[in-house]
Amino acid sequence: MVLTLLLLLLLPAASRARDTITPGQPLRGNDTLVSSGAGSFVLGFFSPPGSNSTYVGIWYAKVPVRTVVWVANRAAPVRGAASESAGATLSVSSECALAVADANATVVWRSLSSSSPRPCAARIQDDGNLVVSDQRGRVVWQGFDHPTDTLLPGMRLGVDFAAGANMTLTAWASPSDPSPSPVVAAMDTSGDPEVFIWNGPAKVWRSGPWDGVQFTGVPDTVTYKGMGFSFRFVNDGREATYSFQVRDAGIVSRLVLNSTGVGGGLMQRWTWLDVAGAWALYWYAPKDQCDALSPCGPNGVCDTNKVPACSCLPGFTPRSPASWAMRDGRDGCVRATPLDCANRTDGFLVLPHAKVPDATRAVVDFNSSLEQCRQRCLRNCSCTAYASANLTAAPGRRGCVMWTGGLEDLRVYPSFGQELYFRLAAADLGTWQHCSSRRRYMHIAQSE
Ligand SMILES: *[C@@H]1O[C@H](CO)[C@@H](O)[C@H](O)[C@H]1NC(C)=O
Ligand SMILES: *[C@@H]1O[C@H](CO)[C@@H](O)[C@H](O)[C@H]1NC(C)=O
Ligand SMILES: *[C@@H]1O[C@H](CO)[C@@H](O)[C@H](O)[C@H]1NC(C)=O
Ligand SMILES: *[C@@H]1O[C@H](CO)[C@@H](O)[C@H](O)[C@H]1NC(C)=O
Ligand SMILES: *[C@@H]1O[C@H](CO)[C@@H](O)[C@H](O)[C@H]1NC(C)=O
Ligand SMILES: *[C@@H]1O[C@H](CO)[C@@H](O)[C@H](O)[C@H]1NC(C)=O
Ligand SMILES: *[C@@H]1O[C@H](CO)[C@@H](O)[C@H](O)[C@H]1NC(C)=O
Ligand SMILES: *[C@@H]1O[C@H](CO)[C@@H](O)[C@H](O)[C@H]1NC(C)=O
Ligand SMILES: *[C@@H]1O[C@H](CO)[C@@H](O)[C@H](O)[C@H]1NC(C)=O
Repeated sequence: MVLTLLLLLLLPAASRARDTITPGQPLRGNDTLVSSGAGSFVLGFFSPPGSNSTYVGIWYAKVPVRTVVWVANRAAPVRGAASESAGATLSVSSECALAVADANATVVWRSLSSSSPRPCAARIQDDGNLVVSDQRGRVVWQGFDHPTDTLLPGMRLGVDFAAGANMTLTAWASPSDPSPSPVVAAMDTSGDPEVFIWNGPAKVWRSGPWDGVQFTGVPDTVTYKGMGFSFRFVNDGREATYSFQVRDAGIVSRLVLNSTGVGGGLMQRWTWLDVAGAWALYWYAPKDQCDALSPCGPNGVCDTNKVPACSCLPGFTPRSPASWAMRDGRDGCVRATPLDCANRTDGFLVLPHAKVPDATRAVVDFNSSLEQCRQRCLRNCSCTAYASANLTAAPGRRGCVMWTGGLEDLRVYPSFGQELYFRLAAADLGTWQHCSSRRRYMHIAQSE
């Protein structure tokens, strides 16, 4: 009978797992929220291994290795381990702000939100998003607009100009400390948008611009299709953002920024393997010596399949032959023959399978044919190269990215990659034009 009584008491408690907090009902340190639906995510208080601090975080409910994907108060923990923090609270105020407080009711973290006149509730959704919304269902604040170090399916990385939001990833300081490290992944929207990993002031990696299908520096994205991944890149003036989706709900995948790479910054895509009971590394960057920022300098081409990896574009020669001989390519290459723009005698050669150059100062035209782009580049004496801007658009509307000055951070892949049309003087053009096949052209280009 005692057992029955116990069961009667315990069963409702077990099914009582809630997904929402309201102004009168905060979340206590010894309790959790579980998303309704498939019950995929848990929100609660935790201490990372080796830490004496307590944080409010979100982790997978069904992944046995606790994997935190979002942290509210990453830089402002509650003192003491989670096991001693039953008195801590996460609450939502009647002004619609979230607050984390310690056992003494001292608020350590608060979400900034435009105050709403209506009372709000905060709910953990089954996609891992913590959403504060008012009684009319209007979203006042959401965790997806404030990523920590992880991009979940449906989360955006990039800039929402309309909402004034800049969604970046910032790596944890260490596995026991979720506070922000100097390692940040952010969308640079100054030219053709591309993602950079920064380590403080130093650039560690560049994704290259989106070519309509993938980032030009992540050319193996096409091989993801079989896994049920789909990608979304929006660049419509209101926002410039990247996100991904996984069609098969059974696939658990996350993109995470780690601060321990060679250059101090590593982007990793992990996928949960049920059979192995472990996360499997699906993709990472930077990957090789050509993924470093511009190892071969302006107008140099990096190719991991060549020794040395750096060569000059056809029609260019090393700027500093001495350091080039020492296999330091960073000074790059200079033109053998000056351009002759005024006489309209310049032309273009194509570099196949390229990760197109740094596009932060490039100009994009989404509305022309490649031939129109060629004419436009030829007419503009500062234009040095162009490439298709959107490979998924109709052939006459693929537009172009146009570069001026030196072509920085250029590399080629054995397969994949884009065609880059770079400008040469007629004299140099003649030397290379006769090469009928691209393979031959590449071969000559490399043995320069
Ligand atoms: C959490 O602790 C409080 C007392 O601090 C207690 O009243 C409450 O029942 C506990 N909740 C759970 C889910 O253990
Ligand atoms: C955590 O607290 C314990 C006991 O209070 C102490 O021995 C340990 O050094 C602390 N660890 C850290 C990382 O502060
Ligand atoms: C709460 O206040 C007491 C007394 O001032 C202090 O000893 C304790 O460390 C405080 N707890 C936290 C979690 O800050
Ligand atoms: C977004 O944040 C990154 C990293 O802090 C910064 O480099 C970039 O300029 C920001 N973009 C905008 C549009 O504010
Ligand atoms: C970063 O990667 C290293 C090496 O793979 C791993 O040990 C560490 O736990 C990762 N950091 C975080 C915060 O997950
Ligand atoms: C370009 O035109 C100028 C005169 O306008 C001439 O002196 C020069 O030789 C021409 N260059 C070429 C490569 O034809
Ligand atoms: C794109 O080109 C078409 C026809 O060439 C023109 O009608 C349209 O206005 C252009 N759109 C933009 C955004 O330039
Ligand atoms: C030439 O192209 C550059 C960059 O594409 C642009 O800033 C400049 O305005 C163009 N000049 C002319 C005359 O069109
Ligand atoms: C690329 O073209 C496709 C198909 O027309 C279009 O849906 C997409 O918005 C375009 N992307 C950009 C960045 O213009």
